[in-house]
Amino acid sequence: MTSAKLSFAVWALVATVATGAAESPALAREFRLGLITPPTHLWTEAAYAFGEELEVESGGAHRLAVFPARQLGTEAQLLQLLQTGALDFAILTISEVTNRMPQFGAFYAPYLVANVTEAAELLRGDVARAMLASMPEEIGVFGVGYGMAGMRQILGRDPIRTASDLRGRKLRITPFIPIRDFYQLLGAAPTPMPLASVYDALANGQIDAIDMDLEAIWKLKYYDYAKTLVLSNHMMFPCVGVISGKTWLVLSEEERALVTRLFREQLDRIMDEYIEKEREWEAALREVDVEIVEVGPEFFGTVLEEWEAIWSDKAPTLSDLKAEAAANASKATAP
Ligand code: BEZ
Repeated sequence: MTSAKLSFAVWALVATVATGAAESPALAREFRLGLITPPTHLWTEAAYAFGEELEVESGGAHRLAVFPARQLGTEAQLLQLLQTGALDFAILTISEVTNRMPQFGAFYAPYLVANVTEAAELLRGDVARAMLASMPEEIGVFGVGYGMAGMRQILGRDPIRTASDLRGRKLRITPFIPIRDFYQLLGAAPTPMPLASVYDALANGQIDAIDMDLEAIWKLKYYDYAKTLVLSNHMMFPCVGVISGKTWLVLSEEERALVTRLFREQLDRIMDEYIEKEREWEAALREVDVEIVEVGPEFFGTVLEEWEAIWSDKAPTLSDLKAEAAANASKATAP
């Protein structure tokens, strides 16, 4: 056991004994939830809905203050706040989680799934759920469940017909190692940048293209400065809903069950909404002045195998995820 894991285990024991928390009667609580997405994003809407449900179902005893758009800092900072108990809940991309638990990088295997429906099924499956189980011990937070931001696409300021059109081009990525590796293998110049900086960077030519989902491309109007949308569906983009380990320890069993159920319901709803809305956003984008180029795995050539050669060692869960994804896909096509 590493010292971080040991100290969490010892601390958990001391806190439980000291507070008798799990048996204590319900207290009125003012919870805090942080996330990086802007107010109009589905993740943020789900966070507010979680707060409303919590207030209703606790008869007004519990409230939830939501801090969107990086008001409390980057995801690395949110994770620190969760670990100290200064923050109770967060909806996180898998980015910072993967920095600390590399097996989560497996979700970013290019073409692990073909579309948003398959992504949701995999994230609701046994392998993904088992991966959440080690979070308390590894990083001091409880993983409640997954949501997602659909599939990744590429939007460019210039025409893009083949992958070689991306060679040497500055391509914005979420600050995240598996995605960086993917674009480096493709010969692009991956440029890590938070969401909030993307619009201006596209507008002023600081970047040539972006790796993004359809929701953000549509709602944040990134298409304003683009000529090409490469509809590639090349990766899924999960998020995870987490509860601070310190918060967990002071909740009664009843409160734990309540917050877990309500939070999980909202995360699940995010996935259902992406399945429904991705088609609408795609249809809307087909109406704007941007050329749509539809591509499949062949567009990326040998990059897929090269990425897997790097990540199958770092994230051994990849083989289990691939097996489950393949089983799901063959079930879906069975007569
Ligand atoms: C992004 O960095 O591209 C991103 C982050 C959170 C939600 C959606 C997109």
